[in-house]
Amino acid sequence: MATQIATERAYNFSAGPAVLPVPVLEQIRDEMLCLPGARASVMELSHRSKEFVAVHEDAKARLSRLLGLGENHELLLLQGGSRLQFSMIPMNLLHEQKPAQYIVTGSWGKNALAEAKKVGAVEVAYDAAESNYNHVPDVGALPIAADASYLHVTSNETIQGVQFHDDLAVEPPLVSDVSSDFLHRPYDIERYGLMYACAQKNAGPAGVTVVVIRKDLLERSDDNLPGYMNYNSHVAADSMWNTPPTFAIYVLGLVAKWLEDTVGGLEKMHELNQAKAKVLYDVVDAFPELYIGHARKEHRSLMNVTFRFSDDAIQSDFLGGTEDAGLTTLKGHRSVGGIRASIYNAMPMEGVQALADYMRDFAAKHS
Ligand SMILES: Cc1ncc(COP(=O)(O)O)c(C=O)c1O
Repeated sequence: MATQIATERAYNFSAGPAVLPVPVLEQIRDEMLCLPGARASVMELSHRSKEFVAVHEDAKARLSRLLGLGENHELLLLQGGSRLQFSMIPMNLLHEQKPAQYIVTGSWGKNALAEAKKVGAVEVAYDAAESNYNHVPDVGALPIAADASYLHVTSNETIQGVQFHDDLAVEPPLVSDVSSDFLHRPYDIERYGLMYACAQKNAGPAGVTVVVIRKDLLERSDDNLPGYMNYNSHVAADSMWNTPPTFAIYVLGLVAKWLEDTVGGLEKMHELNQAKAKVLYDVVDAFPELYIGHARKEHRSLMNVTFRFSDDAIQSDFLGGTEDAGLTTLKGHRSVGGIRASIYNAMPMEGVQALADYMRDFAAKHS
């Protein structure tokens, strides 16, 4: 029986799980039944098979190259999402006499802080709540204890659309939640004690979480931690302490390959991301009476463009026409409302242009 398959892909502005590069999806389709040389689908292979081990090694090698990882860091591919990292980080790195410091610039930083408080001593170095999380602080001007266990930041707040645009230089080990802007630009990796990202926004499907940890920090973990929660279990087992999320790792590797071979690396990716974000923010700025941007200009996210309207009726009107224009999942997060256009690495410039055209047409109708 013939099956009707919808082949019309819309431009998907979902905050995550999110758009993937089309060449990656095509390769997955082509290899779905049989990974070349493996005589089975990647999902049917033992994680110990030489074919899957090659997939795993390739994904790690590509990520290491993209991140510029050297001898000082370990790369781990874990499960549990970034929320598990909210707990694992303090469980492994926190020293009771040296409270960890948290900079809270949005909802995810708040969530990370709440989980860390359950584990031990943490302090809030900065909380942007009073401004409704529309900016990031000048970290150099904050009184951060040099001997803090670590300093936690959220490089990009997915819900509010505010972003740190640089690798911070701080005294305590820098721990950064890069979940929603992972691999969107090159990093000075030596500045990081630990960085972590769930893959389902900028790097692959849900199910795999990337953790990069500086090797000296591994000495802090208590041997009595539950096995999965101890980073050392994963380092010792080369991220195969338990059965890894094999399919998600395979796709993560394909996305890394796309970044290296098709995009041409993270410098190029960053240039493209800056160009894409500019297209949308230029429209927001051109119609300030209609589009009210959330973030301060200098802290606007390159990944999640957030704005709202002066009243709900205009918002419904705006959203009412997007589906027909081939633009989906633009509604802002329920906690802040408005519009959120997530334009991760895999969102093509054409999609951004289509949204910008829609916004311009809508503004013309509402003037
Ligand atoms: C910045 C940030 N941190 C953490 C999370 C939580 O990730 P997960 O759902 O994989 O635990 C998200 C997910 O939306 C996020 O955007």
